[in-house]
Amino acid sequence: SEVKKIAVLPGDGIGPEITQEAVKVLQQVEKEFGFSFSIQYGMIGGGAIDRVGIPLPPETMELCEKSDAVLLGAVGGPDWDSYPPELRPEQALLGIRKGLGLYSNLRPVTLFAGLENSSTLRPEVLAGVDLVVVRELTGGIYFGDKERTTTPEGEVATDLLIYHEFEIERIVRLAFEIARGRKKRVTSVDKANVLESSRLWREVVNRVAKDYPDVQVEHMLVDNCAMQIIRRPATFDVIVTENMFGDILSDEAAILTGSIGMLPSASLGEGTIGLYEPVHGSAPDIAGQGVANPAAAILSAALMLRHSFGYEAAAAAVEQAVRTVFEKGVRTPDLASENQLAVSTEEFGDLVVEELRRTEWPI
Ligand code: NAD
Ligand code: IPM
Ligand code: MN
Repeated sequence: SEVKKIAVLPGDGIGPEITQEAVKVLQQVEKEFGFSFSIQYGMIGGGAIDRVGIPLPPETMELCEKSDAVLLGAVGGPDWDSYPPELRPEQALLGIRKGLGLYSNLRPVTLFAGLENSSTLRPEVLAGVDLVVVRELTGGIYFGDKERTTTPEGEVATDLLIYHEFEIERIVRLAFEIARGRKKRVTSVDKANVLESSRLWREVVNRVAKDYPDVQVEHMLVDNCAMQIIRRPATFDVIVTENMFGDILSDEAAILTGSIGMLPSASLGEGTIGLYEPVHGSAPDIAGQGVANPAAAILSAALMLRHSFGYEAAAAAVEQAVRTVFEKGVRTPDLASENQLAVSTEEFGDLVVEELRRTEWPI
């Protein structure tokens, strides 16, 4: 079969540790399924700042552009927090998202059997949790004009929250399409009681909904949604929302799965190149210790197999391997209870690889 080109950008903090495990899993998938991946590494974020002075070197962007898919670890950390805005590691991520036109960010929130006991929420609240956050990724307050001025009264700072109708329409339409393949329920989250951009958002949702009479749609204000997500999480199916609300709600929703270390994401858009990354960040507090949970990175690689390459069987195999490892009682420190022995980042990756090896997959 044809060679798939994968750009791997490990990034900062735990980025390299977790990415290594995802690459290991991809390499086992090559063997099991007879695929061929050409993996090339690029620098991004704080590491790139330290080496070449900027967070997103042109050669990294070029590497992404000539690849079929991008796997990213995480960027950022205290070393670079006081850098000027355009020189922050996070700017690299925003630059790739915008540069590749990745306007949709899919963040599936899947609860694996047994992990309901790892969450800080009660297991009975978590029964039946299976939702996906569809986050708009290239608009809103992240990308509107920013300004900083000094006035006689003191400093003034502005971030413009701006949405064009077409930006709302394409992400909302995608959410309805996704709902059709799931439980056929869409919850559109906004702040239409205060924000004009949210009122436009709601109008567009109501219009698009007419094309999907088989999908049930509801509007929910974001503050209420933040509460309902932990009160009755199993009632949600597809949550579609603007950039910053989606950022915040998905970290909250991660706790439904036991840990932020469990949540993968796929960023897709106008072109054919997809970006795959964990929802979590560079976790400077645990970096370099080999204790980070690599599941989110491994599951992001599975999303790459599914959404960029159409390798559904292989994607499902990776997800099944992760599920089986958890079913056997294996826990990384973020998921382990106090008296439970936890495995390291690398041990977890090895166990997933071993599960892939043990099973007979159809080639
Ligand atoms: P974070 O997600 O990095 O960490 C939050 C908490 O979750 C920390 O206690 C951390 O130890 C824990 N955690 C995160 N991932 C984990 C994993 N895989 N296994 C176990 N525990 C895990 O969020 P933060 O501390 O607010 O941000 C740290 C840095 O990461 C900041 O510079 C931020 O800008 C950046 N960040 C980057 C991305 C990205 O690159 N996609 C995403 C979010 C945050
Ligand atoms: C995420 C991160 C990023 C975001 C940051 C690092 C720019 O929090 O991917 O969720 O806010 O989108
Ligand atoms: Mn985030």
